[in-house]
Amino acid sequence: MRPIIAIPARYGATRLPGKPLREIAGKPLLAHVIARAQAFGEAEVVVASDDQRIIDLARQLGVDACLTGDCATGSDRLAALAALRGWPDAARVINLQGDEPLMPLSCLRAVLALLDSDPDAAAATLAIPVASIEEVFDPNVVKLVRDRQGRALYFSRAPLPWARDAWRSARRELPPGQAWLRHLGLYAYRVGSLRRFAQLPPSVLETVESLEQLRLLENGLPIQVGLAPEAIPAGVDTEEDLRRVEELISGSRPWRVLFVCLGNICRSPLSEAYARQRAAALGLKLEVDSAGTLSYHAGERADEGTFELAARRGLDISAHRARQVTVADFSHYDLVLAHDAHNLVELGSRCPPPLLDKVRRLMDFAPDSGHGDVPDPYGGGPPAFDRAFQCIREGVDGLLQDLMRRTLPRPGERR
Ligand code: 4NP
Repeated sequence: MRPIIAIPARYGATRLPGKPLREIAGKPLLAHVIARAQAFGEAEVVVASDDQRIIDLARQLGVDACLTGDCATGSDRLAALAALRGWPDAARVINLQGDEPLMPLSCLRAVLALLDSDPDAAAATLAIPVASIEEVFDPNVVKLVRDRQGRALYFSRAPLPWARDAWRSARRELPPGQAWLRHLGLYAYRVGSLRRFAQLPPSVLETVESLEQLRLLENGLPIQVGLAPEAIPAGVDTEEDLRRVEELISGSRPWRVLFVCLGNICRSPLSEAYARQRAAALGLKLEVDSAGTLSYHAGERADEGTFELAARRGLDISAHRARQVTVADFSHYDLVLAHDAHNLVELGSRCPPPLLDKVRRLMDFAPDSGHGDVPDPYGGGPPAFDRAFQCIREGVDGLLQDLMRRTLPRPGERR
């Protein structure tokens, strides 16, 4: 049987009344979500809602829609839908929230494949390594731990797992090892498990943590958890989210590029300044910054040789202060560009795996230049800086051409 993509869409969200009907880039939010589900291809698409206006819209857009009345949770709404439609217990349902217009198709495919990989699992869901220590201690970020088969042991708003030794005295750093996973609210269920879920009363842990998936675990129903193949952009909850998603969908949000070298005092400040100057001349919306893999020069101004070259080339680096790259940079920037093979290896080891396709080498954007690395001019005189800048110019020019032509997929449309 074809999988079903069920889209629960409640009319009365507290922070955005009438949310599914709010317009983004000239179309209701729900129409964007339905288009995502249809792009999946091999699936039956059904909208479940408590409001006739939403049902009417879904039907106008050519998809099945079902009025499910008041439901306590999204899973209850899906269970009600499954009962109304009479789906068999073995049918598989992907729950695509009606406020997730940027859901990558790769994640929909991954969650379904995960359910198929574990015939005894009641449901499957996705996670991503947490990006920062702040997320671990943020109760709005749901953490989880898994067993060796990939099944969830527990979900919690509390810091989970607790790093006894690393956090004995201070809680400033995320220990290495990627043990910290952030839950992403995309699920695939078997219809039989949805039915069980809806028949069970809310469980103790579910009520304490306010996490409905705990009702499955507390009743011995396994949830298989896999890593998301790519980041899932945040959904729509507020007016500000509507504007952010509109910018992404209409392509009006600037590209965000971070240039990374070793010290952040020679090469990357020049790349940043040159990219800023050229983007302004081309009328390209670009947010740029630079960082080093070392913390050694943090807070310092650029190297004297960098100032000398910048003066000769009309580049402004006066406001630059060196900083070290952070894990949050990999989430914020669309591209994190290494100046040489050494930076590339360093960035590769620090980047959360689902975001690795953002990490590239600057000179890959100038494939005809004959250079893979921008040579390190640190300690060299003006000729060393000139050689480095020659590469930077070719790499940045190639990069901006790609961004202008949009030959790179925009964030949110990555497959
Ligand atoms: P950058 O140059 O990576 O182009 O900023 C360097 C700056 C400092 C050091 C090495 C390279 N250093 O070893 O301190």
